[in-house]
Amino acid sequence: MTRTLLAAVTISLGLTLLASCQAGKNDPGRVYAPDMYFSQAYDAYVPSTFTNDGLSARTPAANTVPYGTTAYGSPTLEPWPFPLLSDADTAQMMPSMRNYLNPVPVSEAGLASGQKNYNIYCSICHGGNGLGKGYLVTGTTYSQAPANLMDPRFLSKGTSDAWFYHVLQYGKNSMGSYAYALSREQRWEIVHYIRSLQADYVAEKAVTDAAAAAAAAANPTPADSTTASAEAVVAVP
Ligand code: HEC
Repeated sequence: MTRTLLAAVTISLGLTLLASCQAGKNDPGRVYAPDMYFSQAYDAYVPSTFTNDGLSARTPAANTVPYGTTAYGSPTLEPWPFPLLSDADTAQMMPSMRNYLNPVPVSEAGLASGQKNYNIYCSICHGGNGLGKGYLVTGTTYSQAPANLMDPRFLSKGTSDAWFYHVLQYGKNSMGSYAYALSREQRWEIVHYIRSLQADYVAEKAVTDAAAAAAAAANPTPADSTTASAEAVVAVP
């Protein structure tokens, strides 16, 4: 009895195996839920008979809001088109960029995020304090001088927030774009953080300048060394 059963099982197993080999090696045989295995997706750029315009590649539906553009309740973080322009066009646009203010409100969390991302992406060149002496400059043989973000031309009224944003979007000369790494909010947060570094710098410089002026008044020295101390740049750690 047991033998007959064993034989029956062996034969039916053998038949099943044989049957599954029949369809050829490129055929998967029987498939459970075939609509899940064989997707109906279009290949790239293939025309479609299903859509009205004959295109298989679809554009986003009207009023679609790109990811990352509605945070902070602002309608968009980039109403300015920020196109990549020639130097001459950019120079012409710079005055109107001044009217476009940082759309991200200042907040502690935003400043902390700006600081974190600045330290990750910018300080290697511009330095933790923005003076343009990051490790790439002081510790290696990097030949391009990164901008000193504490230079008077970058201090608050010298260069607009929108211009900083523009530089982060497209880069400038030897500095690359950071649009790949930083979302729109993160770029605006870095701009706030640079402004806070500048405010610290200006405040500290005022203190050191006043101290230098007081020292110079207390011990009059030859004219040339007075000039040198007035011009001394504050070293922010
Ligand atoms: C690999 C080095 C490097 C890194 C990293 C870098 N920069 Fe720069 N950056 C430069 C150099 C070099 C310049 C000067 C470009 C020029 O004017 O030719 C510059 C210029 C600038 C300017 C001045 C643009 C102007 O109007 O002249 C700003 C603002 C700036 N960088 C911000 C940033 C910020 C913010 C980051 C981080 C997201 C960053 N950079 C990361 C190298 C770097």
